[in-house]
Amino acid sequence: MERQRLIQAAIDALPGAYVPYSHFHVAAALLCKDGTVYTGINIENAAYTPTVCAERSAFFRAVNEGKREFEAIAICGGKDGVLTDYCSPCGVCRQVMREFTDPGTFKIILAKSLTEYREFTLEQLLPMGFGPENLM
Ligand code: THU
Repeated sequence: MERQRLIQAAIDALPGAYVPYSHFHVAAALLCKDGTVYTGINIENAAYTPTVCAERSAFFRAVNEGKREFEAIAICGGKDGVLTDYCSPCGVCRQVMREFTDPGTFKIILAKSLTEYREFTLEQLLPMGFGPENLM
């Protein structure tokens, strides 16, 4: 149920993607351990490199609001907002997830629709990642 709610939140956010250059819409819905959900969309830029992915948009919104504990993220995306395939998070976004989550339990849900999705832990998508505990 929580999973469907999260996927639906990502799908609902998709039209808000700011993608004048790639036309590749991405949206994410991040579930905090307290039950709140933060969505994020990709925000592109004429200078290209300042572009921010949907996943990081969601994380940075939540972290700005004081959230620090996260359970799962649902991600969807596709050319012109059409969900033809699973949209997997880029390496930079995986590393941001690594900062704020437990890789063994944090769930990443890649969704094509409410019923078509694949689920991974961060550990599966970012094995042997470098995290905060490496600096302790
Ligand atoms: N993008 C995301 O927002 N998340 C991903 O996981 C992959 C890529 C965005 C960045 C850019 O706006 C567009 O998709 C094409 O790379």
